[in-house]
Amino acid sequence: MGFKHKDIIALQDLTRDEIQLLLDTAENMREVNSRDIKKVPTLRGKTIINLFYEASTRTRTSFEIAGKRLSADTVNISTSTSSTTKGETLLDTALNLLAMKPDIIVMRHAISGSHYFLAKRLPCSIINAGDGAHEHPSQGLLDMLTMRQEFGTLEGLKVAIVGDITHSRVARSNIHGLTRMGASIFLSGPPTMVPPGIERLGNVTVCNDMRDAIADADVVMMLRIQLERQGKTLLPTLKEYSRYYGLNPDNLKLAKKDAMVMHPGPINRGVEMSSYVVDGDQSHILKQVENGVAVRMAMLYHVSGGELPT
Ligand code: CP
Repeated sequence: MGFKHKDIIALQDLTRDEIQLLLDTAENMREVNSRDIKKVPTLRGKTIINLFYEASTRTRTSFEIAGKRLSADTVNISTSTSSTTKGETLLDTALNLLAMKPDIIVMRHAISGSHYFLAKRLPCSIINAGDGAHEHPSQGLLDMLTMRQEFGTLEGLKVAIVGDITHSRVARSNIHGLTRMGASIFLSGPPTMVPPGIERLGNVTVCNDMRDAIADADVVMMLRIQLERQGKTLLPTLKEYSRYYGLNPDNLKLAKKDAMVMHPGPINRGVEMSSYVVDGDQSHILKQVENGVAVRMAMLYHVSGGELPT
């Protein structure tokens, strides 16, 4: 089957087959990334603009590397050095960039829904690199790829997601993607950080006690507390948070033996996870980052059409 979308904005918008296709293509891209010469001509002549209105290390760098490995011309725009600082609107910025004929705009923006706004108005492809607390589809896909490599399937997995669910676009993309692929999700976090009614998104259970969420889990995914998105204090102290919602070698024993430990980064060491766990044998955090390049190559490839690399 082909990929019929001009844009990739949310995993909620994709079918099971489309997610499967993106993951399978990412495996092909991993093979390219293992070569001595990690470059194929697939997107030669295409122009990709990476437009980031929020800070990023992993996502921005890996989208740039992904575009370059596919031979596209990539341009990075950081809004701190762009005319956004002079008051230019998102739409004006996008229309001016469009005048330079990009094929794909990869954007990160603090406002949920800003990508849908642009996708309706621009003929080029829009890829969401994170919008507010809505979705972060490339992160969800790279997380699923990392789990699938470990277990061979996503069907039937128990995935615990712990932390600041309310502000987490990573949690939402994983919930939509993983439940569509047959996994069950167990969420836990301080009551102020778990949105009421989130169970309605699918096969989702909310546990007040983190230990219930991680008990017998195949995967334990920890989230960062997004202090920058909180308009008010949602926590008494970070020490208390760490005590009740932090992952350490003791409570990790509640999960299945050899359960995968994941985190999208950046990590607050000693808050949501102890360094023993971050750097321990069960940690797949750097594998997630590695898979991020392949997944983003697959996303760029599928919104562009083109031939798979040989
Ligand atoms: N996981 C993630 O989105 O990391 P960055 O903010 O560094 O891109």
